Amino acid sequence: MHHWNSKYPARFELDSNHDYQQWRDEKLAAYPRQLADLVVELGDMTAITAAEKAKIMQLVERANMCVYSAGAADIGMDSLLKLGAQLGISQTDKSTRHTNSDELTASGILNKAIPFTTRPARWHTDATYYGSDKTIQALFLLCKRPALTGGSNKVLDHEMLYILLRDKAPEALKVLMRNDCFKYKNPKTGEISEQLGGKVFWTNPDGYLNHRFSFRKMDMAWSEESDVLAARDILESLLLEESEFVIEGRLEPGLGLISNNVVHTREKLVDSEDDASKRLLYRARFYDRVNAG
Ligand SMILES: [Fe+2]
Repeated sequence: MHHWNSKYPARFELDSNHDYQQWRDEKLAAYPRQLADLVVELGDMTAITAAEKAKIMQLVERANMCVYSAGAADIGMDSLLKLGAQLGISQTDKSTRHTNSDELTASGILNKAIPFTTRPARWHTDATYYGSDKTIQALFLLCKRPALTGGSNKVLDHEMLYILLRDKAPEALKVLMRNDCFKYKNPKTGEISEQLGGKVFWTNPDGYLNHRFSFRKMDMAWSEESDVLAARDILESLLLEESEFVIEGRLEPGLGLISNNVVHTREKLVDSEDDASKRLLYRARFYDRVNAG
C-alpha cells in the first residue's frame, strides 16, 4: 500500500502544491494502464481471503476500482452485498429506490431510464442527483449475462481526472471544487431542488476525493455563471479526449466491478430478443466508500 491519504493529506488542497506534486508523481507511476492490471481473481466473493482483500485494497488505492471474478459464489445481489460488507461498506440506497432498480437489464422500468434499456450512456458518475451529505461514493457491479455484442464500460479513476484538470486548467478545477455548480431539476416538472446537487469535486470528511458529473442535462440545472459553464466545458472536453488513462472492458458472466463511483460510460450493445437471455448486471450503490490507503 502507498498510504497516500495519510502521507499526502493536502493533495486535494488547491492552495498547496507539495503534497499534490509528490502524490501526483506516485499516482501516475502506479496507475494501472490496462484491463488485465485491474483484475483480482477471487475464490469466493462472499468469503474473501486476507490476501485477496489486500489485492483489492491495493487496486482501489491505485485506481479507485478493480475488476473481480466471483469464484464459487452465486451470481446475485446477496453476493454483491456480502462483498461490500467484507470491504467495510454496507449503506445502500436500496430503501429509497424501485425494487428492481439494481437489476440492470432492458426491463423498461423507471420510465425507460438508460440503465433499463439498451441505449448507450455517456460519461457519468452514478446518482448525481443526490445531495452532498448523501453522496453515492461506491458503485459495485456483477455480471450475470452479457449482451449479445457490445455493452462494455469505459472507466476512468476520478483522481486521474483531477490530475489532468489540475495540470491543464487549475482555475477551472478551483471553480468545480468551490462553487455550487448545479442543482437537481425534476425532469418532468422542471422544479429545482435547492438542497440537491452542489460541487463537482470535493473531499469527504476523511480526506478522500468525491466527484459527480454527467453529460446528461435533463435532471441537472447548471449554474448560469460564466466561470462554472467554462469549467464544465473544459471538464467535458477532457472526458471526450479520452486520455490514455481510460480503460475499457466488458464484464462477462461472473465478473464484476468494485469502484468508488468512478466516472464511466456504457457502450453500444445488441441485446437478445429473449427476455430470459437479456443482458443482466446486478448493481449496488453505497453511501460509504472503500477506504484504501
Ligand atoms: Fe452508471
